[in-house]
Amino acid sequence: MSMREIRKYRFKYLLQTPGGGSLPSDFCEAVARKVERFHQQIPGYRPTELVRLSHLAEVWGVKDIFVKDESTRFNLKAFKALGGSYAVARLLSRHLGMSPDDIDFAYLSCHEARERIGQVTFTTATDGNHGRGIAWAAEKLHQSAVIYMPKAAARSRVENIRSHGATVIITDLNYDDTVRLCRRRAEENGWYVIQDTAWEGYAEIPLWIMQGYMTMCVEALNRMIPAALPPTHVFVQAGVGSLAGAVVGYLINKFKEQPPKFITMEPHNAACILASAAAGDGRAHTVSGDLNTVMAGLACGEPNPTGWRILRDFCSCYVSCDDFVAANGVRILANPLKGDAPVEAGESGAVGLGVLDLLCNNESFGELKQKLVIGPDSILLFFNTEGATDPESHREILWYGKYPSWF
Ligand SMILES: Cc1ncc(COP(=O)(O)O)c(C=O)c1O
Repeated sequence: MSMREIRKYRFKYLLQTPGGGSLPSDFCEAVARKVERFHQQIPGYRPTELVRLSHLAEVWGVKDIFVKDESTRFNLKAFKALGGSYAVARLLSRHLGMSPDDIDFAYLSCHEARERIGQVTFTTATDGNHGRGIAWAAEKLHQSAVIYMPKAAARSRVENIRSHGATVIITDLNYDDTVRLCRRRAEENGWYVIQDTAWEGYAEIPLWIMQGYMTMCVEALNRMIPAALPPTHVFVQAGVGSLAGAVVGYLINKFKEQPPKFITMEPHNAACILASAAAGDGRAHTVSGDLNTVMAGLACGEPNPTGWRILRDFCSCYVSCDDFVAANGVRILANPLKGDAPVEAGESGAVGLGVLDLLCNNESFGELKQKLVIGPDSILLFFNTEGATDPESHREILWYGKYPSWF
C-alpha cells in the first residue's frame, strides 16, 4: 500500500484492498429511511435529479454514468443542508424531550415550539455550503445563526449566508483554525456548535450531520435499483471526509455482499484523507498550510475521525489531484454530448468527472483504470455536491478556460 504519482499530471493515488472493518451500523438502511422521512417533511423538499449521461458513457467506454445532482437541493445549490437540517432538528427535539423517531419539522418551526425552546444560536465554521445550510435551517426554525468563514471566502458565498439572516464573520485564518475560533466563541457565548466534523468529545452532532447526507444515496438508489443498475464504482470527494464516510457507510451496508469500489478525490493542498491512508497506521492525519485550492468545499486539513475510519476500512482508492482536474469536470458537465443533459457543477462538485476523464482518455492512467476494473461493465456513480456557488469563478472556468489542462 504505497502512494503512487503520475508526475506529468501531478496526480497522486493510493490503492488498497478494502474490507477490514465491521459494518458501520450508524449508517444502516433503517437509519437512512428515518432520515429520509425527516427530509420529506421539510417544505420544498423533493429528490434531486439523478442525471444519466448515457452518451458520455458510450463514448468513454463504460456501461453507465450517473450524477446525483445536488445543485438544486432546497434551492441552496449544495447538498449540505441535508446534514445541517437533520442535526439542528435532532438537537431541538431533544431540547423538547421528544424521541428522535418523532421529529416533527412543522412542530419545531411553530410558535409553540419556539416559546418552549426559547431563543438559541447555532454557530459553525464553513467554506460556504455548510454555513448556508445552517443559516437556512436556523431561519426556518426561527432561531439565530453566527457563521465563521476562513480568509478569502468568496463574496457570493458570504452574501448567500447573510441572505438567511445569519451573522457572518470572516476571519484571517484557514478553515481548520476557523473551526477552533468558532468553538471558542461558542463556549464564551453559550451557542450551539453545529460543525460538520468531529473531534475528541464532539462526535454526536457531526454523526447526525453525516446521517443527514444519506438521503442523497437513498434517492439515488431509489432510481438505480429498480432499473437494475446498481453502482460498480462510486466516486466521492472529500474535505474532512464526512460526506464520503456517510456515502461509503450507507452503501457498504446496502451492498455488503457485492460492494462497489469506492474512490475518494481531494485537492493536493488539502489531501488529509490520502495522507491518512499513506501513513498506514490506521489513524487520521492532518495536513496544514493555506489549503489553497479552487475546490473550496474540499479545502480542509483535518479529517473527521468517524468518516476516516469508514474510508480506511472500505475504500479501494484515494486520489489527490490538481485544480485543472476539477475545472475540466466543470466544463465537461456544463457542455454535454448531444442527448445528455447539462449539469451545473461547482469545482468541488465536478472533480470526480475530471478524474474519470483522465482514467478513460489518457494513456498515463491506463494502469490505474485497469486496477480499478473500470470498463464496459462499469456503472459509475458521482455526486455533484454543488452548483455554481461562486459564479464568478464558474464563469472564468467555463468562458475563459481558467485552470487549463497543460498537456
Ligand atoms: C460542495 C462540497 N462538496 C464536498 C464537500 C466535502 O464534504 P466533507 O467536508 O464532509 O468531506 C463539501 C464540504 O463542505 C462541499 O461544500
